[in-house]
Amino acid sequence: MSSTVITGINELVTCDGTGPDSLGVRSNAAVVIMDDTVAWIGAAADAPACDTGIDVGGRAVIPGFVDSHSHLVFAGDRGLEFAARMTGQPYDGGGIGVTVAATRAASDDELRRLLARRISELRALGTTTIEIKSGYGLTVDDEVRALQIAREFSTETTFLGAHVVPAEYAQDRAAYLELVTGPMLEAAAPYARWIDVFCEPHSSHAFDADEAHHILKAGAAAGLGLRVHGNQLGPGPGVQLAVELGAASVDHCTFLDDADVEALAAAAETTVATLLPGVEFCTRSPYPDAARLLAAGVSIALATDCNPGTCYSSSMPWVISLAVREMGMTPAQALLAATAGSAKSLRRTDIGRLVVGNRADLSVLDAPSYVHLAYRPGVPIARVLDVAITAPQASARPSAPPSESPLDSR
Ligand code: NIG
Ligand code: FE
Repeated sequence: MSSTVITGINELVTCDGTGPDSLGVRSNAAVVIMDDTVAWIGAAADAPACDTGIDVGGRAVIPGFVDSHSHLVFAGDRGLEFAARMTGQPYDGGGIGVTVAATRAASDDELRRLLARRISELRALGTTTIEIKSGYGLTVDDEVRALQIAREFSTETTFLGAHVVPAEYAQDRAAYLELVTGPMLEAAAPYARWIDVFCEPHSSHAFDADEAHHILKAGAAAGLGLRVHGNQLGPGPGVQLAVELGAASVDHCTFLDDADVEALAAAAETTVATLLPGVEFCTRSPYPDAARLLAAGVSIALATDCNPGTCYSSSMPWVISLAVREMGMTPAQALLAATAGSAKSLRRTDIGRLVVGNRADLSVLDAPSYVHLAYRPGVPIARVLDVAITAPQASARPSAPPSESPLDSR
């Protein structure tokens, strides 16, 4: 077992405090990591001797971001669709078929290479946990392939065979429903932790409430946890369905009525509302009112939804800045939602908060305070603190700060 002490932390944000924001900000703190686990947190002056040390030079340290919603296994490009949207074209999910065709045509190696690049991109922006959905294969083999490749990078994989009805089944939805709840689910389930469905009322590109209910029930029977894309394109049944079935998360929540907010508040221990403001930004949609949800007692997560259609960004700091600027969240609420909140939406207690015994998933900010995540929009100040890479080899506990922090040389 090897131990590393992190010192020089101007502001340690544990996301495990008490009080209205429960952010748990500590100054002059140090953290000891044993292998992959947080072993000790306390005053820097009391830090125990360790095998190695890292001095972060007065920066802020936070839990690594938990990005609980992404569609990262895809090939192809839809930049022109985005450009058309910026001149007024609405988003209706129709472009998903373009990505399905490009993804089916890509080799395993190509998909793996593209995914690896996106994973290194998001780690460079401070994300340590990523949920990855399938949903651009939509055949048994292509969905299994996407999940197998995703599994090489994350244990949080989600079967999204019910993303859209693929073109070859356009005249026979019932047959696709049978496939997605039968042989495709059976083949995909061993590689997935979750099942998700794109639920919208009366949309040819998504699944209505009855279809989504049937799909989620089949997923639950196969042992998968439930997630829902709901209330994205307009008011819809997704939120109520997610709450009724005890889903861990209902994502988007762009168009909510009072009954939806009430249902989410009543289900706050079970079902998290995952907000994806990057999607509203990239589709020119209205932002959900997060302040209203928080006031009602709803559990909130923030995630990127990184995908080639509605938000091709893997930046959690950008999502935080949008949440603060556009959705009425404080910087503290937004950081909590991007860490502990999104961990809750994945039903994980070992990530999202820096407490003894949790995974040592830390991100460091090139800033003195977490507030800079929103205060410096678009500036890449967050990065994963990779202890294995950054720890100097042979030092005991650090004394004077090094002239050049290990972080500066990355
Ligand atoms: O979360 N709404 C469904 N799925 C994605 C978009 C997929 C795409 O357009 O390629 C989303 O927004
Ligand atoms: Fe999505």
